[in-house]
Amino acid sequence: LNYLTPKTRQQVLDLLLQGLKRLEYRGYDSTGVAIDAPPAGNDGDGDSIILVKRTGKVKILEDAITELCQGAEAEFGQPLDIHIGIAHTRWATHGVPSEVNSHPQRSDAANSFVVVHNGIITNYKDVKTFLEKRGYVFESDTDTEVIAKLVHHLWQTHPGYTFGQLVEQAIQQLEGAFAIAFKSKHFPGECVASRRGSPLLVGIKAKTKLATDHVPILYAKAHRPHSQKQFQLLPPGDCSGAEYQPLEDKQVEYFFASDASAVIEHTNRVIYLEDDDVAAVKSDGSLSIHRLNKSSSDDPHAREIITLKMEIQQIMKGNYDYFMLKEIFEQPESVVNTMRGRVRFDTQTVVLGGIKEYIPEIKRCRRLMLIACGTSYHSAVATRQLLEELTELPVMVELASDFLDRNTPIFRDDVCFFISQSGETADTLMALRYCKQRGALIVGITNTVGSSICRESHCGVHINAGPEIGVASTKAYTSQFISLVMFALVMSEDRLSLQQRRLEIIDGLSQLDEHIRSVLQLNSQVQELARELYQHKSLLIMGRGFNFATCLEGALKVKELTYMHSEGILAGELKHGPLALVDDEMPVLMIVLRDPVYTKCMNALQQVTSRRGRPILICEAGDNETMAHSTRSLQIPRTVDCLQGVLTVIPLQLLSYHIAVLRGCDVDCPRNLAKSVTVE
Ligand code: G6P
Repeated sequence: LNYLTPKTRQQVLDLLLQGLKRLEYRGYDSTGVAIDAPPAGNDGDGDSIILVKRTGKVKILEDAITELCQGAEAEFGQPLDIHIGIAHTRWATHGVPSEVNSHPQRSDAANSFVVVHNGIITNYKDVKTFLEKRGYVFESDTDTEVIAKLVHHLWQTHPGYTFGQLVEQAIQQLEGAFAIAFKSKHFPGECVASRRGSPLLVGIKAKTKLATDHVPILYAKAHRPHSQKQFQLLPPGDCSGAEYQPLEDKQVEYFFASDASAVIEHTNRVIYLEDDDVAAVKSDGSLSIHRLNKSSSDDPHAREIITLKMEIQQIMKGNYDYFMLKEIFEQPESVVNTMRGRVRFDTQTVVLGGIKEYIPEIKRCRRLMLIACGTSYHSAVATRQLLEELTELPVMVELASDFLDRNTPIFRDDVCFFISQSGETADTLMALRYCKQRGALIVGITNTVGSSICRESHCGVHINAGPEIGVASTKAYTSQFISLVMFALVMSEDRLSLQQRRLEIIDGLSQLDEHIRSVLQLNSQVQELARELYQHKSLLIMGRGFNFATCLEGALKVKELTYMHSEGILAGELKHGPLALVDDEMPVLMIVLRDPVYTKCMNALQQVTSRRGRPILICEAGDNETMAHSTRSLQIPRTVDCLQGVLTVIPLQLLSYHIAVLRGCDVDCPRNLAKSVTVE
């Protein structure tokens, strides 16, 4: 919504498309926009909405819009005083990627209400049946379409309701997760958005200083959302007495977005909305946030406007072909940023401000649970052994989905860590809520300030890796790894017997950036190796001890980016099955370092070579004895055993990248995947 300088329709479209490109990493099956149609003739009313939708990436939508605008420059070039547009890039959950299933979804053929949605409406079938009985005809297979039609139905049955009130009524009927934004031809110049479970923020760009740093929340007395077996419309809440309080500043532009990368080139001032907030921007320049009465004491009565530190360069590719490559090469700096202000190399001390006060409580706990998904889970696997060693506590490492499936017992004296780059992964977030409900202490390890996991944790560590855009996680992994190492160091501060070990690790951390730089110099050697491997069907990656996590993470990178089959194998399990896969054709990558499991790894290596396997080694620089067992090896610098995993993973990140490029895969947008999976 724009008041700063009048924009043309074309500029509004450009702004929406640019925002979509920044959000594309969250999903890229199909895209769409809704904007006000140009007036029909000179005296047209201009109140209808155009929808443009396409399958595929934002570029395809952009081309379609360019075509649409051609020949209509007069209409699209006219300055508009005020304008609302909404746009979406989709990661399909219900309904295949197709134009009709793309968002915005609409209430009717006249596009009276249109909506974009992230998340899943779990009771959509009930809502759909309810609406079908009232004559609504559905055109898509999406769960989202019910939202647009439900708001339309409420508009017809509740004349006099404001746009915000209609949305507020609608979300009471919805179950599941959503971040939604609406536009309507009946409320021109207004946009209403809401969330539950899925992230949503409001960006505010003001010409003059804002009157306040807070937006007050207004409450209405209404029925709390509740679970319904059979869908039926709840009686309307009493919204009549509620007055919306504008954030009074006429010189303002508002943005709603799933994350800050979409708005950061316009403003760094944002409000993170809470579950069930309904935010409305209106043509009088106001922003209001309204919600149903909540008794919960931790629900503040205002939303704070936060100034983000993110910079636009951080979310641009610069000279790199892909975000992933940029992020791999950023690791010497990102690991330093993770340690900055926390590890003091002169005094050999470590302080984690975000959990400092909780350390005594953590030390008294029964066990540590590390819970995460995907790459974040691997960072837990990678540091488990060190955590056990330095905390002397039992450490459980769990995949969030499996943890929930098992209804794992959790106790008040458990300390549960939730590791998540985005801070929004639905499975991880649900596991967090499960543990919180059972009284455990919740520690968040995330890369996204203001994310749900950040906000719902009791304490935590922000890994400070900087925005990660490539769908395949790289620098977030190494920063999560370092964060957990720092935590282990904090926990062992007063253990005399562990001092020598701690000093060795802190020394290792002080050299880590240099060591990463020298591993990155292997890039062209890794590219060579990729040329050798890219046409194979499968790739095995084997190791054990501190490097087992690297095998899992390396195999995940290969799978997600190259669509090749790849398996991370614990070398100790080789003889229990995987050895059957080994022959003179199968590529096997083995990590063999001079650490406590060296001899065992050498046994595995010999078992492979004696089956005519031709392993490719990742080993320590200058270790000729080990290298003699293979014709191909990548040499990495020597560091302390528990930090080796940071160095061994990098050649595998590079390898998966180069294989993906050689196989013609889209590195930053691997098929079927999304960066932030906010659905179960
Ligand atoms: C998705 C991404 C992965 C990521 C995982 C967990 O699957 O594609 O790269 O590791 O989610 O994400 P999180 O944001 O919780 O670390």
